[in-house]
Amino acid sequence: QAFFKSIMNAEPSSPTKRHTKISVVGAGNVGMAIAQTILTQDLTDELVLVDAIPDKLRGEMLDLQHAAAFLPRTRIQASTDYSVTVGSDLCIVTAGARQIHGESRLNLLQRNVSLFKKIIPPLVRYSPDTILLIVSNPVDVLTYVAWKLSGFPSNRVIGSGTNLDSSRFRFLIADHLDVNAQDVQAFIVGEHGDSSVALWSSISVGGVPVLSFLEKQQITYEKEMLEAIHKEVTESAYEVIRLKGYTSWAIGYSVANLARSILRDQRRVHPVSVLAKGFYDIQDGEVFLSLPAQLGRGGVLGVTNVHLTQEEKHRLMDSATTILQVQNHLSI
Ligand code: NAD
Ligand code: LAC
Repeated sequence: QAFFKSIMNAEPSSPTKRHTKISVVGAGNVGMAIAQTILTQDLTDELVLVDAIPDKLRGEMLDLQHAAAFLPRTRIQASTDYSVTVGSDLCIVTAGARQIHGESRLNLLQRNVSLFKKIIPPLVRYSPDTILLIVSNPVDVLTYVAWKLSGFPSNRVIGSGTNLDSSRFRFLIADHLDVNAQDVQAFIVGEHGDSSVALWSSISVGGVPVLSFLEKQQITYEKEMLEAIHKEVTESAYEVIRLKGYTSWAIGYSVANLARSILRDQRRVHPVSVLAKGFYDIQDGEVFLSLPAQLGRGGVLGVTNVHLTQEEKHRLMDSATTILQVQNHLSI
């Protein structure tokens, strides 16, 4: 007997919005921060967790399911078997080794490439139309690896890239100017990591370009201070890892923010890792690095043409070269 007595002649219930399914591979610090942010922000109808450790995976799934009374209704499943991911709209990959104190992101490469060979093919087999969003480090090179392993068109393979670095940047600028970080428009592009590039010329606060404002006010252009803020951004992850062992909350929000733009077709511009060939004079090699990209239901819809100074262009090229040098030693 049905729990609710059905209403005679009622139309069969039809969902008011498109049904969405997100799979998160890697139920570690980062995967779980992403999962919990996605749940609290009501971004999907189904959330799937995949990991290699069955007990931890089931424990995480149950712990989230037990919050059902306080969350928007979402079906949560977990398995070590990739068949559970079938028909995903978005697959977020966070599995893999992470840095220990003092280690750089690039050190993780070979270990995580081996894992990706086990992870990407089954994801693609079960969800051939999915969008892959890569978070594991080094994220730019692993996004390239995922693109190669998947055989997907490049618009459906995205790295979380410098969306996180840009959020750190906006926080520090907002703190410096005593304004709201959501009112600060500022991009970090290039490698997610040590060779990232701050686009000083395009920073605005509440629509007011900051550098030209400072120059008009004849306030000295404090280059050293600006460089110090960028240095603080690149050192942020190292500091958090030294203090708490890993980073998780900010990347959780950053990736949920990308998931929203993609699945809800928001067409917002985010600095994320995309195939950069052909943009901003980057012609050599197949390199993924962060550029301001418009995201929607089709994945990467385009790359915006932000004005770069000569110095910013040179730094972006150097960042591309750094990534390509690492990539050239890879055997996939
Ligand atoms: P973690 O050790 O807490 O979690 C990693 C998880 O991956 C573990 O649960 C492990 O069991 C799982 N795993 C290992 N092999 C697997 C496999 N073959 N299949 C499925 N799951 C597997 O690490 P973390 O702190 O969550 O970090 C995860 C990754 O995210 C690291 O590479 C880290 O550097 C990266 N990260 C990236 C960003 C970014 O901005 N791109 C930010 C933070 C962390
Ligand atoms: C970050 C990771 C470690 O938080 O890439 O920047």
